[in-house]
Amino acid sequence: MDLEQTLASLTGDAIAKAFDLESADPLLRAADPKFGDYQINAAMKLARSVGKPPREVGAEIAEAIRSLDAVAEAEVAGPGFVNVKLDNAWLANELSLDLKGDLRIPKAEPKEKIVIDYSSPNIAKQMHVGHLRSTVLGHALVQILRSVGHEVIGDNHLGDWGTQFGLLIVGLETWGTELNVELESASVKDLEQLYKRASARAKQDEEFAERARGELAKLQRGDEANLAIWRRFVEVTLKTNNAIYERLGVRFEETLGESFYNEMLPGVVEEVTSRGLAREDQGALCVFFKEIDPKEHGKPKMQIPKRLKNQPVILRKRDGAATYSTTDVATIQHRENHFKADRTIYVVDDRQGLHFAQIFALAELLGLSIKADHVGFGKILGDDGTPLKTRGGDNIALGALLDEAVARAKALIEEKSNEGVLRISADELDAAAEIIGTGAVKFGDLAQNRTTDYRFDWEKLIAFSGNSSPYLQYQYARCRSVFREAGIEWESAPTEMVFTEAAEGDLARELARFGDTVARAAKRYEPHLICERLYELARAFSRFWTQCRVLGAETEEAKMSRLALVALTGRQLERGLELIGIGVLEAM
Ligand code: ARG
Repeated sequence: MDLEQTLASLTGDAIAKAFDLESADPLLRAADPKFGDYQINAAMKLARSVGKPPREVGAEIAEAIRSLDAVAEAEVAGPGFVNVKLDNAWLANELSLDLKGDLRIPKAEPKEKIVIDYSSPNIAKQMHVGHLRSTVLGHALVQILRSVGHEVIGDNHLGDWGTQFGLLIVGLETWGTELNVELESASVKDLEQLYKRASARAKQDEEFAERARGELAKLQRGDEANLAIWRRFVEVTLKTNNAIYERLGVRFEETLGESFYNEMLPGVVEEVTSRGLAREDQGALCVFFKEIDPKEHGKPKMQIPKRLKNQPVILRKRDGAATYSTTDVATIQHRENHFKADRTIYVVDDRQGLHFAQIFALAELLGLSIKADHVGFGKILGDDGTPLKTRGGDNIALGALLDEAVARAKALIEEKSNEGVLRISADELDAAAEIIGTGAVKFGDLAQNRTTDYRFDWEKLIAFSGNSSPYLQYQYARCRSVFREAGIEWESAPTEMVFTEAAEGDLARELARFGDTVARAAKRYEPHLICERLYELARAFSRFWTQCRVLGAETEEAKMSRLALVALTGRQLERGLELIGIGVLEAM
């Protein structure tokens, strides 16, 4: 359900009626739990227009909304706040509708077509820890935005077309035999080594650098031999990356790399130039935002942000090569013109903020109407507060990180099974460790506010208590086990509820917030809100569990109602985890 929206419209209508207004915004806020569930703050504003003291207006509001089914109590407080307590019977009815109606996640209006650009690693390099956030956040956003009704296309914008290929081709020629690396059998790791060596050499050896540029130019002109080598690089990288995506449960609708846009680049350059948005400077073609007046481009209201004015965007380098920026202009055009997308989102780390601001401004000046958002994020830090690396100072390969997570999950499951806390048998161990381990890495990442850096901490990630996914998975399995014990099918859980105990009402109030949270996470691109919600839910469930007997309830009615609460808790845990890309186990 959409609790906030529902309450706002119910109370808004009641206030409008009481004061003879066309409509009224109740200015609803979450209340201090000591005083109620929600607070209505409209009295202070209304007081001025109706010419009465705010407290008096507050009292009238309280009176007006008291008769609503949703409201159990409404009291005026302080200068005119109205504290509202929700009615348990009303809540029980709404939650039972949620249970029958697939959780009733509120739909966004209007429905949009959205392209999400995420993961997007570069070819011939291993995916490392730096790709974790884009991949996991992007995937969560795909599912969250879909759940509120949007049509979403996930696009892996591979870095498969750049200077690295000239270096790699020459590197392979030069050291292939010595390093025992052959095109046919080279791994991504091999390619990464070759690239490092070639790029170091190019910095000191102009002739080597020249050769690399020559091979790159040949490739970009469509030379068959170089294209064949390039294809092989792409193929082996994709194969390696796909194994990781599979483990993460990530699937893309599109994988249009930079190379896909290659043929469109001359058109981009031509268009930007003919519209007077770019000019030559020292042999390069550049966009100088400080020289552009949006009015002259039919954009009288557009403001070019100051930070864009300090440096030009290069669309064609002196040597004639197009750039990352040129490709991104072609990409955004394609998303509007080909996919007919209303919106495109780039899940890319904060360091590329300026780049995207430039592209979005340029797209607007070119008359595109697609909305574009850069969903940036911070870094993952190690114990010492610097970006997480191996002891040797290298990037940590993503595959290795997942392996470690699974190994740690396995050890913990074994330990907890020995203690009798978990009951996972030896033949289920590997599958369980994979779900729990990879889930924990994802959750640890998504639970953070994405804009901040966070410290990677294995102990916190892989734990059956605290704000971690194993804890949530455990609570979910517990919900399922109640049903096994009761001998009732999970799918045909009872749906009617009546609340008599405080712990039931508290749990119900947590359950009522699910829909609002998903809607907010979608709107703000903030999956961590879902993580927080699930954690609060699991804690309320835990309190309920210790305070209320479910199967041993006093009456049959209480038992059925509590089973319905358990079922809804389980469904929300499962769906919430699924939205952020994390699986569950039916028994643990
Ligand atoms: N390949 C780029 C990198 O690794 C990220 C690409 C992001 N997407 C985009 N459309 N520019 O930094």
